[in-house]
Amino acid sequence: MDRAPGLSARLRLTLSYAGFLMVAGALLLGAVWFFTLRHLPEYTTVSGGVLPRSILLRDLASAEAGALLFLLVFGLAGGWILAGRMLAPLTRITDATRLAATGSLSHRIRLPGRHDEFRELADGFDGMLERLEAHVAEQRRFAANASHELRTPLAISKALIDVARTDPGHDTGEVFERLHAVNTRAIDLTEALLALSRAEQRSFTRERVDLSLLAEEAAETLLPLAERLGVTVETCGDITPTAGSPTLLLQLTTNLVQNAIVHNRPGGRVRVETRVRPATVVLVVENTGERLTPRLVATLTEPFRRGTERINTGHAGVGLGLALVKTITHAHDGTLTLTPRPAGGIRVTVALPAT
Ligand SMILES: Nc1ncnc2c1ncn2[C@@H]1O[C@H](COP(=O)(O)OP(=O)(O)O)[C@@H](O)[C@H]1O
Ligand SMILES: [Mg+2]
Repeated sequence: MDRAPGLSARLRLTLSYAGFLMVAGALLLGAVWFFTLRHLPEYTTVSGGVLPRSILLRDLASAEAGALLFLLVFGLAGGWILAGRMLAPLTRITDATRLAATGSLSHRIRLPGRHDEFRELADGFDGMLERLEAHVAEQRRFAANASHELRTPLAISKALIDVARTDPGHDTGEVFERLHAVNTRAIDLTEALLALSRAEQRSFTRERVDLSLLAEEAAETLLPLAERLGVTVETCGDITPTAGSPTLLLQLTTNLVQNAIVHNRPGGRVRVETRVRPATVVLVVENTGERLTPRLVATLTEPFRRGTERINTGHAGVGLGLALVKTITHAHDGTLTLTPRPAGGIRVTVALPAT
């Protein structure tokens, strides 16, 4: 933004200091002048003889003028130095903002000294830089991972097509079958990416939704899959009214229930429960399965993070399921908690504001 150039803060502070000093000095000297006028007799006897009042007053006036001049110089010089010292942290903060504006987010102000307004500003700025840097790094990781994941099915398709082209005796039926599977996976991935960016934009209208109905719907849709994998699904709980996008919240419950079924063991169990608390509604999805460490569980919501690759189930997802759950939860001002169960499997809790 273009603004008219003004006096620097240092100069303004200096002038204020000097101005104050001058006013205080002038008042004091004025008081001295006034009392002298009132109490000085017409003639005063000093060591050298008798002096008339007018001469004494003239001396006093010139001494006072000298004192005022000294105060002016002292105020300006002292004010300049003091203001410089006061404003020094501001220069550091300004330098840091300039650096950040050029894209260098790794720089920190790290203002030394006691806690004051400047320190608070600098610490706040450092905190903001830290979050920004982490966010940018996360976005870069995401872009790199997404490109990699998108390239994989394309590379596999190319290899399949190349084989079919160079080897006429190849079983085309099998090639088509595999191409179809690879293609479906690429579409699933792209759709998951689209859903993620839509949820991130928060561009949905909020409607009244009953979370327990969505949980039941998700469980019902996924029942055939559960039966195929030998997993039992149990749903229970209260009516849980909340506000949000039914489509996104159905996606959230579906992802959680699907994960609970797929990342389970044969003969395992899934429990889906909805509860109402005073200010929140809670969805809990618990499942049996492998034992997981808290450290591993803490990373599972990162995009493209797969805990234990269970390729044998044939349901290797694209690795965006939990990332999407997290984004949808946050878009609805809710919280997502994942805790490993001591006996194996995990317990996922989604808490959303109640209506
Ligand atoms: N309910 C669950 N029980 C055990 N592990 C799970 C569960 N949900 C997710 N995981 C682990 O977290 C990883 C990431 O899950 P997700 O983001 O849905 O990706 P995907 O299911 O596509 O692999 C999974 O690969 C799995 O290892
Ligand atoms: Mg999944």
